[in-house]
Amino acid sequence: MSKTHRPCGVYMAEGGIVAAALAPHPPHLVYAENPEQNEPTSEGGWEQLRWGYERLRNSLKDVEYDVIVILSPHWQTYVGTHFLGVEHFKSLSVDPIFPNLFRFHYDMNVDVELAKAIHDMAKEDGMSVKMMENPDFRVDYGTIVSCHMVRPQWDKPVVAISSNRSRHYYSVEVMQEMMMQLGESTRKAIEASGKRALVIASNSLSHRHFTTETAVPEDMSKEHITSHAMHLWDMRMIEMMRSGKAREVLDMMPEFVEQSIAEADGGALTWMLSALEVPETPAILHGYGTIIGTGNAIMEWKCGEGAGESGD
Ligand SMILES: [Fe+2]
Repeated sequence: MSKTHRPCGVYMAEGGIVAAALAPHPPHLVYAENPEQNEPTSEGGWEQLRWGYERLRNSLKDVEYDVIVILSPHWQTYVGTHFLGVEHFKSLSVDPIFPNLFRFHYDMNVDVELAKAIHDMAKEDGMSVKMMENPDFRVDYGTIVSCHMVRPQWDKPVVAISSNRSRHYYSVEVMQEMMMQLGESTRKAIEASGKRALVIASNSLSHRHFTTETAVPEDMSKEHITSHAMHLWDMRMIEMMRSGKAREVLDMMPEFVEQSIAEADGGALTWMLSALEVPETPAILHGYGTIIGTGNAIMEWKCGEGAGESGD
């Protein structure tokens, strides 16, 4: 079968990455949405970002995919990269910092076959990897929040990948080298699987946050970026992604992580851009906003029909 070159740089003879998203996971977003799975209730809040997620969901409405593949900075592993390896998880996820906002009853299916395929490919490519096969494992809230905001129906299986904390043991440069390889292995395994995947990097941009909470968490009169410098960093990174300069984003990453305490330190963004073969396709910005002072952008890379269209 002949292969068709897709604008993301992804080849789609059979399976492949059909779209990708930067989808941040502050639990405040789920709290503000008031879904039935979450115990606390709110009066709303963070609408700019929630409308951004709404635009992302609308944009993905006609994109057919079989599986969501996600890397979350809140599943932290110190020896290699781990993959959820149990078919089904059902439990209560409580945010350790914000138990007043997020007590979420999740019920998710895992595509263990694809998880194992990515695991095996990464192993073959020389990475340290492990399947997580404990049925009582509690899925991290980063994975849960991003998946819920992107696909609240919970009707697609997920491949969840841990964040190896190589940045903490070594440096941003080492983290990037490892995540570039993991992205490459992820792409190859997805293509070989014959499945269509939506790939998600679950992280905020600048990550300096307030240290106290207001009496009403959703009081938007108190919400703003923590500093002008953080705003400038966020805008710079967004502009690069909007103009298809993924290579520059990766080159800038060490400075960005150091100076803005960026949550991209967990490797999700580097991994995703690498899985897309460092795209020159402009990303669509669906929304930007702050949550407890951190900078959050919701962005999408289309890989099939319509790639490169501006959605802003
Ligand atoms: Fe986070």
